Amino acid sequence: MLQIAVNNVFKSFKDVKAVRGISLAIEPGKFVAILGPNGAGKTTLVEMMEGLRKPDSGEIIIQGKTWQKQEKELRKIIGLSLQETRFSEKLTVYETLILFAGFFELGDERVNEVIGLTGLESKQKSPVGTLSGGQRQRLALAVALLNHPQVLFLDEPTTGLDPHSRLDLWNILKALKDQGETTLILTTHYMEEAESLCDYIIIIDEGKILKEGKLEDLLDENARNLDELFISLTGKTLKDNQTVLL
Ligand SMILES: Nc1ncnc2c1ncn2[C@@H]1O[C@H](COP(=O)(O)OP(=O)(O)O)[C@@H](O)[C@H]1O
Ligand SMILES: [Mg+2]
Repeated sequence: MLQIAVNNVFKSFKDVKAVRGISLAIEPGKFVAILGPNGAGKTTLVEMMEGLRKPDSGEIIIQGKTWQKQEKELRKIIGLSLQETRFSEKLTVYETLILFAGFFELGDERVNEVIGLTGLESKQKSPVGTLSGGQRQRLALAVALLNHPQVLFLDEPTTGLDPHSRLDLWNILKALKDQGETTLILTTHYMEEAESLCDYIIIIDEGKILKEGKLEDLLDENARNLDELFISLTGKTLKDNQTVLL
């Protein structure tokens, strides 16, 4: 069975057509990157998959279940970190995790496990307000991992992080991938992130899929990396959305 099926989904905000007919078929255990520039529709698409926004039309099916009919069951099997996850600045890392663990009726044992998984041991007594950007993202990931999610959604988990913190997060996600129990949907506008972490890459712009496939199938002599591919598809660079002269 497919882990996630997205069938011809549309979503508009007044006159902005954020997602314009996207379909996806994602198998269990895959790490999938949704790659696109700012405003491409990544967050809107992912929030619909997360059951936080309702599509105007089309359907989203996770493990054969829909958000309309089986929200409670789906909440149990997904984990997510939003593009701008905010936690209370005054609570410590440990207290924050205990708080969220309580929602899933989990105790300190699982909290200690996710602290270990995300390398936050030395920060567990620190107030969230004192954490660096990379540490905050690792905390957001730790929260997302609490309930052993079978499907994990991370919306731009490394945007704005320094290269070292980004690498730390990639290593944590690679370890998760090796365990093979989690399907990951990750949005990013860093092609290196998609290349190094993901089995399958979906390039979107203006609410539509421009191209998708395994990395090796997407590249050829005309597009030697994802940046070149994106430029050849759109005439724009992925990073700053600037038009380039071809
Ligand atoms: N809540 C909203 N209200 C109005 N417009 C929105 C809203 N959310 C997103 N948009 C618009 O939809 C488009 C896609 O946005 P988004 O999904 O956030 O893209 P991305 O995550 O790829 O940067 C953009 O033009 C954005 O301005
Ligand atoms: Mg976004």
